[in-house]
Amino acid sequence: MASNFSIEPVMRFSGDSQPVRRPKEFACFSYDENHEYRPDDSSIKYYYPPQLGADLSLGFDTFVKHDDSKAEHLDSLLKTIVSHEQETRTRIDANIVTWRGMMTKILAAPFERFDGSFEMNATLYQVFIEENHEHKMLSRQNEDRGKPRRGPPLDVMQFWGYKFETLSTLPSPWAETSRDFIETRESQIVNNKEQYCSIVRTGIGKATLCLGGEVDAIWDSKPQDKGSPINWVELKTTAEIRHNGDMENFHRKLMKYWIQSFLLGVPKIIVGFRTRDGILVDIKEIETHNIPQTVNARPNPAWNADICVNFAAAFLDWLMQTVNDEGVWRISRRANSPIIEVYKAEETGHGDILTDEFKDWRIKL
Ligand code: A3P
Ligand code: MG
Ligand code: MG
Repeated sequence: MASNFSIEPVMRFSGDSQPVRRPKEFACFSYDENHEYRPDDSSIKYYYPPQLGADLSLGFDTFVKHDDSKAEHLDSLLKTIVSHEQETRTRIDANIVTWRGMMTKILAAPFERFDGSFEMNATLYQVFIEENHEHKMLSRQNEDRGKPRRGPPLDVMQFWGYKFETLSTLPSPWAETSRDFIETRESQIVNNKEQYCSIVRTGIGKATLCLGGEVDAIWDSKPQDKGSPINWVELKTTAEIRHNGDMENFHRKLMKYWIQSFLLGVPKIIVGFRTRDGILVDIKEIETHNIPQTVNARPNPAWNADICVNFAAAFLDWLMQTVNDEGVWRISRRANSPIIEVYKAEETGHGDILTDEFKDWRIKL
């Protein structure tokens, strides 16, 4: 039997925002250039502005691309949580543990009508939520299928985002990086296997959350004391704005930028504007916390940050009451659907959501 949570009417979530706790990083991990797990911050990158005029397609033929056709579940997040709990000898207090990307889909649900379909799996301990990998792969196939389109191939356009990251970051702080390296950034091999992931404790409404997510770069360097705000930078590329329609689209895109950054406490977003064929022509620094009011100040805003937060607060509260028994639960929204369905997909066990390492550790703790 499925339980449904209604997204519509969206206006019932308007009004002052439910309490949101400032995200605090309490752990991190890295993937190295081979996507091997490292229990440290070795893959952190330092922001350094790129040169305008760069061709973002350069190096596509040598792109070292991470193969994400294999499900990674919550494995690295859980591994890092286990290490943290071994150090502190206490269980993290989150009600919900997941990747930031899942929470982004939930907050965006009230305003994602057409490509807002998702499927997630959840299991109890606390509520652990992973993306349903099969669904992700299927919807990607559907996206790619036979739509006639103009312009560069999709995989080249996707490369532009990673190329922009390579052009805008250094592997060490500027003062410790050789001038040679900085000047030859354009010819660096682009590799998206390498990542730094921040793990934060945060809260929306009544729910305490543990979220893990990739951060692209840091503005300066990490503060000494744990828990102080970190000057993270999110990097984004987008088409240059030529007319009103482009402006509309950009403001719509700002929703995802905002949700994604706000959830991990990333204060600044650097947007690289590119021509239709991938030449970097402009750069803009955007403060994450200014985005909601910028969008609200426009006529007929396409989305509203308070509604995103209030919707998520209500949904998560409901979810914590609904996922109340063992087994694997499915959280599902079809494209365009006004509801999110939650039902039990497996009667017992934790599917592939939890690792043996994690379960063994929690028995001991
Ligand atoms: P852009 O965001 O500049 O387009 P992120 O911005 O989250 O750090 O992701 C980095 C890049 O990964 C993106 O750059 C884009 O190229 C690619 N990417 C991220 N999410 C994607 C998705 N859902 N589909 C296709 N490409 C994606
Ligand atoms: Mg990123
Ligand atoms: Mg980015």
